[in-house]
Amino acid sequence: MGKIHVTDREGGQHELEVEYGDSLMEPLRDLDSGGIEALCGGMCSCATCHVFVEPEWFAKLDERQDDELELLEGTECFDDNTSRLGCQITMREDLDGIVVKIAPEE
Ligand code: FES
Repeated sequence: MGKIHVTDREGGQHELEVEYGDSLMEPLRDLDSGGIEALCGGMCSCATCHVFVEPEWFAKLDERQDDELELLEGTECFDDNTSRLGCQITMREDLDGIVVKIAPEE
């Protein structure tokens, strides 16, 4: 179990716990307010789980796959240096403490 530091869509700060091997999607979706929608349930086809990952953490993540990048590039606030889909980030020990901000609703 590792921790993630999250800024939600309303500016609220959260420290959430995620099992190693799970994606960030569920904890971000389960926030009481200001969380992601995750409409496709983590199938990498909706982009409603768009998050910005702090650059120092972004560098530790696996590369974006083509389908993830394509979806992200279609969002209005895509940032090549920080944008990821929450459902495509799998929690690992070296990501304990990762800092993410949920992207604005589109
Ligand atoms: S939950 Fe739909 S792309 Fe991540």
